[in-house]
Amino acid sequence: MMKIAIIGTGYVGLPTGVGFAELGHTVVCVDKIKEKIDLLKSGQLTLYEDGLNEMFLRNLQNGNLSFTTSMKKAVEEADVVLIAVGTPPHPVTQEADLKYIYAAVIELAEFLTGYTVIATKSTVPVGTGDDIEQLILQKNPTARFDVISLPEFLREGKAIHDFFNPDRIVIGTNSEKAIKVMSQLYEPFLPKTEILFVSRRSSETIKYASNAFLAMKIQYINEMADFCEKTGADVTEVAQGMGLDKRIGKSFLNAGIGFGGSCFPKDTKAMAFMGRKVGVCMDLIETTINGNKKRREKLADRVCQTLKNIENSKIAVWGLAFKNDTDDCRESPAMDVINVLLDRQMNITAYDPQAMQNACRTLGNKISYADDMYAAVKDADALIILTEWKIFASVDYQLLARLMHQPYVFDYRNMLDSKKALENGILYQCIGKKF
Ligand code: UGA
Repeated sequence: MMKIAIIGTGYVGLPTGVGFAELGHTVVCVDKIKEKIDLLKSGQLTLYEDGLNEMFLRNLQNGNLSFTTSMKKAVEEADVVLIAVGTPPHPVTQEADLKYIYAAVIELAEFLTGYTVIATKSTVPVGTGDDIEQLILQKNPTARFDVISLPEFLREGKAIHDFFNPDRIVIGTNSEKAIKVMSQLYEPFLPKTEILFVSRRSSETIKYASNAFLAMKIQYINEMADFCEKTGADVTEVAQGMGLDKRIGKSFLNAGIGFGGSCFPKDTKAMAFMGRKVGVCMDLIETTINGNKKRREKLADRVCQTLKNIENSKIAVWGLAFKNDTDDCRESPAMDVINVLLDRQMNITAYDPQAMQNACRTLGNKISYADDMYAAVKDADALIILTEWKIFASVDYQLLARLMHQPYVFDYRNMLDSKKALENGILYQCIGKKF
């Protein structure tokens, strides 16, 4: 079993740490934010992730998992150090901002003892591995280490499932020594999962290329949805028909309000920036970014155009998180739609099963928050569904129609049964199909 240090206890670092602890390794997670570490030490999770709590508590109790603010404590005995800090977009250039990565690397360098593999889990621009290596050598010229790229493919909300059932594990290094250590670490995943060893730069690129491709796939089906609305086709049927082609695949063909979250918006922008930097035209990605941004405004506009009197109208919103099964509101389409509606003087009452606390940090008391999905729609002039939480699909249509002042429903995640909605007198609109 190995000793693993994980730097950063966010949506990547924390589930990854818990996962490796569950496999029997000794994991020390380090973070700069003392309040966060104190909560984690006391057995309180700092983010919502399906299935995480039980595994987290078990490994905290059996001693496989511990938390500290001390980089020294985490790193000095580690065989493998995983860097899992944020790489947010630079406010001006939109390139990935590496300040947290560099700060972590500079701090950890002096505590390296013995041979250590330093693996970058954070999504970083191509060539960052080289910079990290140089920085460590400057700080600690005698250190024995390899810097490798270990891109993360976990989805928020499914992180524990994805940790134990990855589609692939990509390891970017040419060092035989590092390959040996990583082969040992990932041995339990064989033979179910393919482990791909590639160069560090290829590995860094694989991460961006994968996220940008998935984002493009979503933008593509959303364009098809617009087309279907004009031509009388149904995008859900179109996606089904396309998805049966194994070369296309079924996943990421759900048309909706567009992609959000802390990854796709940031990574597409960073990829476009990297392309511009090396003089390669990334038209497909640029179009994806712009189309996705405009989509939020366009669909917010559709609400305003449909309702006759919009000023002071009461709008119910179901869903604030950027997708289901998470409490994360970063780059959530719901936030942008709500802001457009607020600008038009509409009154909003929202419900989300997990994300209301996080949404409140951004929106404060500009909107009201309901205790459940039915409380949100009481006397509403319209309901907009913005996150694909399963619970919304189990709505009581009769009750919904009765509770609302006017039963306009804008189902921007295609969650409801259109037939049942229409039968119950609901004035129903969804994505990619006109009624
Ligand atoms: C994404 C990738 O899926 C992960 O593989 C990757 O590790 C992660 O980014 C990352 O880079 O860290 P995540 O951001 O958690 O994961 O969310 P996704 O499940 O990919 O969804 C992204 C957005 O696309 C959400 O807003 C979702 O609602 C939207 N989406 C997804 C659609 O609108 N339609 C779809 O068919 C699928």
